[in-house]
Amino acid sequence: MAHDTNLADTGDLIETPAVPREHFASRLGFILISAGCAIGLGNVWRFPYIAGEYGGAAFIVLYLIFLVILGLPVMVMEFAVGRASQRSAAQAFERLQPSGRWNWFSWWGYIGCMLLMMFYTTVCGWMLAYMAKMATGTFVGLDPDGVAGVFGAMLANPTEMIGWMLAVIVIGFFVCSLGLQKGVERITKVMMLCLLGVMALLVVRSVTLPGAAEGLAFYLVPDFGKMFAGGLPGFGDAVYAAMGQAFFTLSLGISAMEIFGSRIGKQNSLTGEALRICGLDTAVAILAGLIIFPACFAFSVAPDQGPSLVFVTLPNVFEQMPLGQLWGTLFFVFMSFAALSTIIAVFENLITFTMEKWDLTRREAIKRTAILVTVLSLPCALGFNLWAGVTIPGIGDIQSIEDFIVSNNLLPLGSLLYVVFCISKKGWGWNNFLAEADTGVGAKFPRWARGWLTFGLPALIIVIFIMGYVPKIMLWAGIG
Ligand code: PHE
Repeated sequence: MAHDTNLADTGDLIETPAVPREHFASRLGFILISAGCAIGLGNVWRFPYIAGEYGGAAFIVLYLIFLVILGLPVMVMEFAVGRASQRSAAQAFERLQPSGRWNWFSWWGYIGCMLLMMFYTTVCGWMLAYMAKMATGTFVGLDPDGVAGVFGAMLANPTEMIGWMLAVIVIGFFVCSLGLQKGVERITKVMMLCLLGVMALLVVRSVTLPGAAEGLAFYLVPDFGKMFAGGLPGFGDAVYAAMGQAFFTLSLGISAMEIFGSRIGKQNSLTGEALRICGLDTAVAILAGLIIFPACFAFSVAPDQGPSLVFVTLPNVFEQMPLGQLWGTLFFVFMSFAALSTIIAVFENLITFTMEKWDLTRREAIKRTAILVTVLSLPCALGFNLWAGVTIPGIGDIQSIEDFIVSNNLLPLGSLLYVVFCISKKGWGWNNFLAEADTGVGAKFPRWARGWLTFGLPALIIVIFIMGYVPKIMLWAGIG
């Protein structure tokens, strides 16, 4: 297994036939890093509130269906492209389809990951800020208005916003600078195991609070009424949210997962690995709701939507809870680890892409990527204060615009392009894809799914994609 040689110290070597590609040291490392990339703000922050909004368990069922019929196959495809090419998106497509027709697609992943980081660094910074604020007792004795004021003051202060964003960037690139195995793999593994442990503690605390049952019912009793609240268009919204969430939570469509496929050997089948990663991701999403809702109901605080759920509602809840400062700090440790593991994984992707695209050493690639990420992250941080006037009707501030470009466009369409690449003869082709996916021990990719992937899945993505634009176009055109 020449590939498994420890090359973590070869930061200055460019891969050549004599310098084999560095792989993860262990299978657990691969699974936890991929899960770390998948488990992020999407699970611990976005999932609970959209599930609450669209009818709890009724929405969860819809979401699980999308995970299986859309998310899983695309994840297997990204891994297969990575493992077969042994390259990041920078070179994977030209290696698998030498005609060059697909080379442009490598930029899709790079731009998508960069755009994602442009707002993710800011929001991850809020998590770190709140960890510090909770630990130092900022919220002690504050009434709900006071708690809301803390969040508002943070957003309004460009220095504080940029400071936390920079802290995230420094931590992320520091971990990457230690190397793939010694940095990214070792640290993400520890962080993910801590995350799972802290999460278990928080779930137990939350569901055993007096009055938690009402919150459990709100979250878990299927409410089809809520799902159809706006009639068929309302149901359309739920479907749209469930699909978007499936791509976002699994990090699909912008080659974020592809890179990890290029760092493993052929021992295990890719469908089996993808199932494990999806399972972990889903468990964390559902359990995050089990932390949030019972606690809100136990203290009669209405669960809100969007950013204020985590940054205003929950500090209020912790404020009333015995030992709230401790539980609140642990909660934001949990949130920070989830977000940081995604940051590290995506930085690693951007670094490897840069090394391969421009033939650079790891050190040089880190330098360039770090500068670029820092500069490009500024607009989002400033979009809450100095540049608050920059908005698009129907979308929102700078953060929402960046999120919209990635989540509503690049992820679903990029996933569709992966499917076309892996199925069409003009791309890599079904047989090549299937052979790669099925190499190794474990679950095999279902052959009968080919028809669904060729016709059903593309049609579904396109219909839902258009559905998402209809209300916006109507708004922009001033109709309705
Ligand atoms: N899956 C990550 C989350 O849930 C977000 C992400 C999307 C990461 C796309 C990489 C690529 O927060």
